[in-house]
This record gives sequence, C-alpha cells and structure tokens, in this order.
Amino acid sequence: MSNMIVFGSQWGDEGKGKIVDILTEDAEMIVRFQGGNNAGHTLVTGDKKFILHLIPSGILHPNKVCLIGNGVVLDPEVFCQEIDKLSRSGIDISHERLSISKKTHLIMPYHKALDQAREIAKSGKDKIGTTGRGIGPCYEDKMSRVGIRAGDMQDLDLMREKINKALVEKNSLLKHLYGQDPLDPEQVFEQIKPFCLRLEPFLADVSQKIQDARDKGKTVLFEGAQGIQLDIDHGTYPFVTSSNTVTGNASAGSGYFYDMKKILSVVKAYTTRVGQGPFPTEQDNEIGAHMQEMGAEFGSTTGRKRRCGWLDLVILRESVRLCGPTEIALTKLDVLSGLETIKVCTGYEYKGQTVSYPPQEENAMAVVNPIYEEFPGWTEDITKISQIQEMPANARRYIEMIENYLGIKISIVSVGPDRDQTIRID
Ligand code: GDP
Ligand code: IMO
Ligand code: MG
Repeated sequence: MSNMIVFGSQWGDEGKGKIVDILTEDAEMIVRFQGGNNAGHTLVTGDKKFILHLIPSGILHPNKVCLIGNGVVLDPEVFCQEIDKLSRSGIDISHERLSISKKTHLIMPYHKALDQAREIAKSGKDKIGTTGRGIGPCYEDKMSRVGIRAGDMQDLDLMREKINKALVEKNSLLKHLYGQDPLDPEQVFEQIKPFCLRLEPFLADVSQKIQDARDKGKTVLFEGAQGIQLDIDHGTYPFVTSSNTVTGNASAGSGYFYDMKKILSVVKAYTTRVGQGPFPTEQDNEIGAHMQEMGAEFGSTTGRKRRCGWLDLVILRESVRLCGPTEIALTKLDVLSGLETIKVCTGYEYKGQTVSYPPQEENAMAVVNPIYEEFPGWTEDITKISQIQEMPANARRYIEMIENYLGIKISIVSVGPDRDQTIRID
C-alpha cells in the first residue's frame, strides 16, 4: 500500500480533478481534506462532463469510497445539489461510499452573506475576488471556536442555539457595517434543517475509516483543492483562500498520518489565475488570449475568465520545497501547440537582485520582474498522441526542461480534457 496526495502547484485549476479521476483506478478510497465549494474539479468521460465542487473526484468509479475530511468546509445545500446531480447521471451515491467527517465545519447562509458583503465593501485594489461561497467566514468561525460542525446535524437543538448566538454578531456586522438586511435565526435554521436531516446518515468518523482501510492494506488518495499560491500561509497573501493547500494539511485535514509516500504535483503547462492578486508572468496580450481560448480558461465555479501567462518555475520551485512531490502530472500541454516561441520564467529580479524563490514580503510579488528563457514551440496537434515517443521533439524538450529544473520526473502528460487524452510514463 502506498497512499498518494495530489495537489495543485500554481493558483488552482491545474487539472487536479481529471488526474484524480484517472488515479482512482489505483486507489480504494479518495479523501478531500481542505477547501470547500470554491473548488471546481472537472472530469470528462466521452460526451459526459462533470464539475465537482465538494464530492471527491473518485466518485465516478463504482465501489470506490469517497470521504470529506474535517479540514473541508461544507455547504449542506450545495452538497445535496451535487448528490442529486450525480444521482441523475446514474452514479451511486449511497452513504456506504460517501461520508462526511463529524468534525467538518458547515457553511451557513450568513457566511455567504458576509463573504459577499465584504467584497462589495472593499475598494477596487483591495478586493480579493473571492468565489463568494462563504469560505473565509466559515474558516474564521472555526478558528474563533464558534463554528457549526457536521456532527451538530445530530443535535438540531444545539444547532439552533449556535445559529442564534452566531447571528448576534453577524447581524450586527451585516446591518451596521455593511448596510445589508439582517438574517432571522429561525429562518436560517428552517432553511438548513432539511439538508441536515438528509445528510445525517452520511456522517462518520473519517479518521477511523482511513485507519480501517490502512489495516486492510487499501490505498488512499488525498485530493487537494486550490493551489499552493492560494495557501493561507504560503500563497500570495492576502490574495489567497482561507485554508492550507500544502500537502502537510492532508494529515491535519483528514485525521490520518501514515504512508503518505507518493506525492503528485499537478502542473499546468502554463499559468492561470482567477480573482485578484499578483501574477508575475501574466500575459495580458495575444499570448494570454491564445491560452485562454485554446485552454477554454473559464472558472469552473464562477465562470469568470481566467487570467493566463507563461509557466513560472519560481513558484513551482517553491511548491516543491513546500510539498515534497515525488512526481509530476503535466496538464494542458496541448494548449501551447501553435505558439512559435514559448517562454518560461526561471527567476525574478527583485530589489536589484536575482531571486529563485518568491520573496516573502507582502505585495513583493506585484513588483518582481520575471526573467525568461525561450524555447522553440511546435505546431502539431498533440491531442491524439498516446505515447510519449510520438510527441514533437520541441514538446519533449519542454517536458524535459521542466523535469531538469525541478529535479522531479513527469509521470503523466495530459493532452486534452478527456480521460483518454492522457499519457502515462513509466
Ligand atoms: P482543477 O480545479 O484543478 O480540477 O481544474 P479545473 O477542472 O477547474 O480546470 C481544468 C480545465 O482544463 C477543465 O476544464 C478540464 O476539463 C480541462 N483540462 C484538464 N486537462 C486538460 C488537458 O490536458 N488539456 C486541455 N485542453 N484541457 C484540460
Ligand atoms: P480549484 O480546486 C482557482 C481563488 C478565488 C479567489 C481566492 C479566494 O478548482 O483549483 P475564496 O472563495 O476561496 O475565499 O477565494 O481563491 N480560488 C480558486 N482559484 N481554483 C480554485 O479551486 C479556487 N478556489 C478559490 O478565485 O481569488
Ligand atoms: Mg478548478
């Protein structure tokens, strides 16, 4: 048994969902350990497309067990909608194969209201560009020790009491600071209650479930959400999400520590970002437009156009230092086809010096100047290639360049959204 953690190495949307779906073949259990429905993970099989926000990307495979760890923040209504959507497509979603940790914090209507009210209240350059899904306010309540946890679905009196207490503070903020309508505690409770009644059978001790799988020699796959530059500590603060996206959090966010030996970094062949914040290699020009159009770069959760730019080895180097990957899945290489020259950022100029890692001062990433190396591109369509040997020479050179810079083998190259458009390299 060799468990695996899959994480996004950039600003999210690297193609983690597709890779997890493929690797699920080799695992029995798939666990989400952080984030919430700010995530949008896309799986494509033939003419079917699924976008998953909360349910792990292993769910399409029958008989695989999917778990929501304690480190996730879960919106009960969105979770029920996701179950219904998958069920309508004929996917079995019984509580035998899908569980929620009793320690998982719940996103409440007032978290969403606050998230959105704060974004509206911020002036242009201060806006984070959050997904508005209540992620930050929910994690705030968890840290302030006033959160509502999934286990509270078993005790609705306790839940009602917690909602009442929470709204004393939240309503004061909503009404007096943000000029929004206050929420009625009883209405909030009645709104959330049917989802709680429905989800109660899904509650479990997730940490114990993983331990039991270990005892039976089963393989567990931990599915990261977002990307390393969105990590609350290590990302481009304050333009980040509110959880730790680094692989170390796979343990804290699931209640399990053993055998996390394989660590797979998902690297998009270029860089994208949704929302505000610094992006040193951004190409707000025809190059970025090529990536945006060829890569269909629209947010899977909010539908916003993703900002696009060249591959940044500085942030990838940092993701190696922070997450210890043992292998890489390189995605969306097909999107670079047709570019005459491909640039790669190998360092930054910062305060008159060349740096190989992102400087840590706040806003520093907004003033660094990327240093580029240039590589010749290729014109061939690579979306139907199934063997690495068939790749155009310049595409192979690009792959080898990334391996050499990071000192890590690329074990998967993805050349299209479909499951079949995947090259595995021994
Ligand atoms: P995630 O959040 O990391 O799971 O990534 P998203 O699903 O948000 O975004 C990745 C997008 O790229 C999705 O629309 C995928 O279907 C698509 N995709 C994944 N791999 C490839 C690839 O190799 N080539 C192309 N062209 N699209 C891909
Ligand atoms: P996946 O898992 C890309 C971004 C938002 C915003 C910032 C904070 O699909 O890769 P939040 O709602 O989390 O408080 O927003 O983080 N963001 C993502 N960007 N992919 C994601 O997830 C993201 N989840 C959050 O756009 O800039
Ligand atoms: Mg996504």
